Amino acid sequence: MTRILVTGVSGLLGSNLALAAAPRYEVVGVVHRQGLHNPGFETVQADLLDLDGLGPLLDAVQPDWVVNCAALANLNQAEQQPQLARRLNTEMPGRLATEAAARGLALAHISTDAVFDGSKGNYRETDAPKPLSVYAQSKRMAELAVKSAHPGAILARTVFFGWSVNGQQSLAEFFYNNLSTGQTVQGHTDRRFCPLLVSDLSELLLEMLDKDLNGIYHVASTDSITKYEFGLALAERFNFDPSLIEPAESTATNPAAKRSPDLSLNTSRLVQALGRRMPSVAQGIKGLQAQLENGYRQRLQSLALPQPQEG
Ligand SMILES: NC(=O)c1ccc[n+]([C@@H]2O[C@H](COP(=O)([O-])OP(=O)(O)OC[C@H]3O[C@@H](n4cnc5c(N)ncnc54)[C@H](OP(=O)(O)O)[C@@H]3O)[C@@H](O)[C@H]2O)c1
Repeated sequence: MTRILVTGVSGLLGSNLALAAAPRYEVVGVVHRQGLHNPGFETVQADLLDLDGLGPLLDAVQPDWVVNCAALANLNQAEQQPQLARRLNTEMPGRLATEAAARGLALAHISTDAVFDGSKGNYRETDAPKPLSVYAQSKRMAELAVKSAHPGAILARTVFFGWSVNGQQSLAEFFYNNLSTGQTVQGHTDRRFCPLLVSDLSELLLEMLDKDLNGIYHVASTDSITKYEFGLALAERFNFDPSLIEPAESTATNPAAKRSPDLSLNTSRLVQALGRRMPSVAQGIKGLQAQLENGYRQRLQSLALPQPQEG
């Protein structure tokens, strides 16, 4: 059976990917600060910032595939801690790619729609990136580092939403948590994106690895939507009061924010490689609701172990 090492397994993507893969693959998840309770797959504790430990980690786990979901994915934190962003988001993936290539392992590295500046939208893999933030720059530099160290690696540029272990990791949870308790929120009208339900993204990544794809792929929903419209669509699906969502410009709520109005991705390359359409945003939100009803969200949140105190 194919053995997969998933880094960042407590995170939004890592946890959903590991749960999706566990029935069909041998999964080993790397945990760091946030441990997991009874996840139904193997875990190993490691600080991936110990770059010299990455080779020995691969030797100990002996995976066939590596999916790198670990990152500093919080944009504000990346601005405040640029050195950490560069080390975790660029140097670590570069070294992981070197170690994976040396052992002949398949690698999927997760990148972001934010490598573009959002001035045009419908971005293809051949369009020139123009990252605007520390986070986006660190992710773009990682693409170059991973590609040069491991030319056979998959670089999946994506954006996603879903249920998470800590219950507050994704945009969908932001809307769900606030709207379900009657709180007013703002939805950005000047931010267009094409998010996938994280479980759909997980299946696509497994399929891409199975098909032995390599290089950059845009992995996103077939249509695009503003963040405000996303909130409205979620409110409609879950029967929340849509008037709780106030339309707002992102620069009005955060004057320091760099404008990236349209980060929509063109997925033709992946559609052709896999021979199937990408899901729509509406399908993703419907899937999110099904996961609430079938107990998936509860199962995911039952994995949370208390985090150790700092200091
Ligand atoms: N969320 C999105 O919509 C989005 C959009 C585009 C791209 N992406 C990319 O997708 C990937 C997954 O994002 P996500 O939203 O799932 O991130 P996330 O929920 O913030 O999870 C990040 C994971 O990285 C782990 N981690 C952090 N520092 C570590 C260290 N030193 N050693 C080992 N593990 C460490 C964290 O574990 P601990 O908490 O235990 O430290 C956590 O499990 C990232 O590459 C991100 O840049 C995300």
